[in-house]
Formats: sequence, C-alpha cells, structure tokens
Amino acid sequence: MKIGLAADHGGYALKEQLSEYIQGLGYEVYDYGARTYDAKDDYPDLVIPLAQGVARKEVVKGIAVCGSGVGAAIAANKIKDVRASVIMDTYSARQGVEHDAMNVMCLGGRIIGIEVAQELVKAYLEAEYSGAERHNRRLGKVQDLEDKW
Ligand code: RB5
Repeated sequence: MKIGLAADHGGYALKEQLSEYIQGLGYEVYDYGARTYDAKDDYPDLVIPLAQGVARKEVVKGIAVCGSGVGAAIAANKIKDVRASVIMDTYSARQGVEHDAMNVMCLGGRIIGIEVAQELVKAYLEAEYSGAERHNRRLGKVQDLEDKW
C-alpha cells in the first residue's frame, strides 16, 4: 500500500520521522514534499499536490503535517474526493476512516511528538472504511454537496 506524505516547514521534521516509521511498518511512501526544510514555504503548495494524488489514487491514503494541522486540513478539503481532518487521538484516527472514509490525516508538527504521531499513524493506516449502509448514506450526502458546488 502506497502512502503519500506532505509537510510545510511547521511539519517537516515530523514528516521526516514519520516517513521512516511508515516504511518500517512495511508501507511504500511517496513524498510530495517539502524535500528540504524551507522556513518560507507555504502549506498549500505541498498539501494540494498530496491531496490531488489521493484523489487520483496515486496513493491510497495521505498524511499532511503543518504546524497545527489546521491549514493542511483546510487546503486538502478543497480537493474533490478528499476527506481530511486534523487528528489528535487514536479513536478519531481509526473511526475517521471506518465511518467517514477519511483519506488525508492532518497532524500538527508543533502540537504532537513522534511517539503520539506514530500511534495515530498506525491506527489510521490499519483502519478500513466500513462500507456500512449508514456510512455510505452519510458519505453520499457529503459527496452530493461536493458535486453541487
Ligand atoms: C506555518 O508557520 C504555519 O502557519 C502552518 O504550518 C500551519 O500551522 C497552518 O495551519
């Protein structure tokens, strides 16, 4: 399974650590950048290519890291078929996929440390969408709105 990563300067250090961790779990990683630390980079320039990669199914799931995770989630959710959220607990990391088909998890590189981030990533990557009728129905309503706009 190929996992996409992206981060601005606020998330760069955590992304680098997570990349090694994710590969250690046996996943393939595609890094959408930043490839080097740049204190002046802007999260949309890194997160949008990741979100587009998820939407095009280049990668199965994405992980975006900025300082808080908030800007990354806002940017990623502008791309059709992307469902992104800031995640800080393992329950949401898992349930966000199982119930809501979250496909981009956003983390705050200035908020959480590597140990917590690893647990969040593991819960997120191991989770699968339930496909339950009630979840499909709710997702369909979100997709209808996306199509309309
Ligand atoms: C960058 O300084 C910071 O604003 C950005 O990484 C992020 O936290 C935005 O949500």
